[in-house]
Amino acid sequence: AEPIPFDAYKDLAPEDLHLRIRRAKETLKDRLVLLVHNYQRDEVWQHADFTGDSLKLSQQAAREAKPFIVFCGVHFMAEAADLLTGPDQAVILPDLAAGCSMADMAEGESVERAWQELATVLDADKEITPVTYINSSAELKAFCGARGGTVCTSSNAAKVLAWAFARRPKALFFPDQHLGRNTGKRMGIPLEQMPLWDPAEPLGGLTPEAIGEARILLWKGFCSVHQMFRPQHIAYFRREHPGIHIIVHPECAMEVVDLADEVGSTETIIRTVRNAPEGTLWAVGTEINLVNRLKEECRGKKQVYFLCPTVCLCSTMFRIDAPHLCWALENLAEGQVVNRIVVPDEHRHWARTAIDRMLEISRS
Ligand code: 13P
Ligand code: SF4
Repeated sequence: AEPIPFDAYKDLAPEDLHLRIRRAKETLKDRLVLLVHNYQRDEVWQHADFTGDSLKLSQQAAREAKPFIVFCGVHFMAEAADLLTGPDQAVILPDLAAGCSMADMAEGESVERAWQELATVLDADKEITPVTYINSSAELKAFCGARGGTVCTSSNAAKVLAWAFARRPKALFFPDQHLGRNTGKRMGIPLEQMPLWDPAEPLGGLTPEAIGEARILLWKGFCSVHQMFRPQHIAYFRREHPGIHIIVHPECAMEVVDLADEVGSTETIIRTVRNAPEGTLWAVGTEINLVNRLKEECRGKKQVYFLCPTVCLCSTMFRIDAPHLCWALENLAEGQVVNRIVVPDEHRHWARTAIDRMLEISRS
């Protein structure tokens, strides 16, 4: 049979979609698990079997034995799930256009070039551990894995960098300069020893001396959602709501993280606000779908505000909606696997090695 075309889903009423998603889940029963990232919209999030941040969802994927893993998140997360599951398990991303602009900022060719350029000023293989944030392609994970490096998430970046420094004196950190800088700073590394590597410039725009003194070389990537949070937003909330607690994601710029009371992954943010005493006030600096849900959950008990005056929405996370989810599930229920994410064989071994190292470091 042909796959059911997506066009049949676009105009369905929300209640119909909801019912049909539930029905398809019942048909698929034990053959399906629905992993849902904390930034997903409510219409998708409500159907989750597991929700979480990148680390928690990859740990869950690694435990799964079900043949179908529908991943409601973005492409790199589905790739990580594919790396951590077997060849008889299919990982499905309901909309293939759900990418991550940050992950796209470190593409294969410029990463290879950077390594070659670094090798002209030092013994890169002996002196540098490449570490990539999980928000990256499987190709970049493979690059790191093949050179003794690994992967990190927003929940284990400090632990992973400590692991890297126990092996080699320097780290090259992809693709999020902010997570790298914020984590390095908390580990006590001076800013002068964390220069920015600009892939558009020869030798990253750095002098051989600056590279020689560096502890972490920060790839010039960023998250366009989290860079919208600014210090003046924190100043506003502190002025208008004395006693408020500010919590932000480590993808925010250093000036913002330094002014916040707490910093953590999406799961840490949810847990911290959820467990806070009644009557407390919170301003949260991360994606708006998460914050709105938290606001709703805390209604009448705690006051939760969104840290930014404009809407900071991850437009690619937002692409996964009820019509795409329903379409993917009903096709599966009919025996058609649509939108399967498969990491190419050439990257598989080393990308898996890199991510396995991370899971091992997280366990220790
Ligand atoms: P978490 O791992 O904290 O959920 O972050 C994922 C992400 O993409 C944040 O922008
Ligand atoms: Fe990527 Fe930023 Fe969206 Fe996270 S919030 S998926 S880093 S674009």
